[in-house]
Amino acid sequence: MSSTTSNRGRPSWDARVRRSTPIIAALGVAGAVALVIFVGHGQFHEPDLAPILTASPQIKIHLAAALLAFALGTVQMLAPKGTVPHRIMGWTWATLMMVVAIASIFIKVIYPGHFSYIHILTAWVLIATPLGVWAARRGNIQAHARFMSGLYYFSLIVAGAFTFAPGRILFNVFFGH
Ligand code: HEM
Repeated sequence: MSSTTSNRGRPSWDARVRRSTPIIAALGVAGAVALVIFVGHGQFHEPDLAPILTASPQIKIHLAAALLAFALGTVQMLAPKGTVPHRIMGWTWATLMMVVAIASIFIKVIYPGHFSYIHILTAWVLIATPLGVWAARRGNIQAHARFMSGLYYFSLIVAGAFTFAPGRILFNVFFGH
C-alpha cells in the first residue's frame, strides 16, 4: 500500500486533500476578489444591524442557519473524519444546510415575488445534502467527501462571499449608507 492509496486501492484522504488544494485555493481567491470588488462600492463602517433586524423571519432563519453551518462546516473540514463527533456534527450540519435551503425558497427579494438565479443553488443543496449523507451511510466515503466539501466550498464560501454584493443585506450592514 503506497502513501497515496488506501488498502482498497483508492486515493487516500491525504492524497485527495493534496489534489484538491489548488481548487480550494482558487475558490478562496475568487471569494476574496469578489469581496474586494464589492467593498470598493461602499465605505466600511461600524456594523449597522438594522437591515437584519428589520428583515423577514425567513431571512433571519436563513442567515442564522447559514452562519452556524459555516462555523460548524469549518470545524468538520479540519477535524478528524469518521469519529463519533464527526457523525454528530455531520448530522447537525446536514440539518442546518436543509434549513438554509428550505428557508431560501421563501426569500424573493432580488426579483421581488419571483425566484432568482440563486434558487438554482437552493435546488442543488436540497439534492446534494441528502446524497452526501446517503453516500456516507453506504460507506462510499469518496462520494461523501466530494458532496460535502463541494457543498461547503461552493454554497457556503463562494455564495457566502456573494452575499456581500452591493444592494444585498450584508453589504448594507458593513458598507452601505
Ligand atoms: C454563508 C452563507 C450564506 C449567507 C451568509 C447567506 C445570506 C443570505 C441573506 C442575508 C439573504 C437575504 C437577501 C439578500 O441579502 O439578498 C440571502 C438570500 C438568499 N440566499 Fe443565502 N446565504 C448563504 C448561503 C446560501 C445557500 C447555501 C443557499 C442555497 C441553499 C442560499 C440561497 C439563497 C437564496 C435563494 C436567497 C434569495 C435570493 C432572492 O432574493 O432571490 N444562500 N442569503
